Amino acid sequence: MTMDWTQLVTAAQEAALRAYVPYSNYPVGAAALVDDGRIVRGCNVENASYGLTLCAECGLVSSLISSGGGRLVGFTCVNGKHQIITPCGRCRQLLMEHGGPSLLMLTPEGECSLSDMLPQWFGSRDLQEYDD
Ligand code: THU
Repeated sequence: MTMDWTQLVTAAQEAALRAYVPYSNYPVGAAALVDDGRIVRGCNVENASYGLTLCAECGLVSSLISSGGGRLVGFTCVNGKHQIITPCGRCRQLLMEHGGPSLLMLTPEGECSLSDMLPQWFGSRDLQEYDD
């Protein structure tokens, strides 16, 4: 699949403008293409209790589910200087749940799949095999 990265990067940049980052002053915007053609996005939302901060990817996943669900097929995220960044470890796991290993990622090093960024991931299969 060829991905329109320009469209996703623009959506991520727009989302970053809405970030609530009074503590880190580090805005993040994330955007993803859904398998039905929708684009979902999210921005980071910080909290005075720092550990409660919501990463941009959390908002994106919430938007995905609350707007009808589906599978993520392409993803990118940017900071407030429009630099492409990589999702933190926790958010790679969030993306794996809703995009799977073949989710295409635009990273600072170019395009790769989510399984390249999160090898040997834990997933629902591990839970199913445990029950068998
Ligand atoms: N952040 C994200 O929103 N996503 C990531 O994948 C990495 C980090 C946010 C959390 C915090 O608000 C700020 O970036 C600095 O860590």
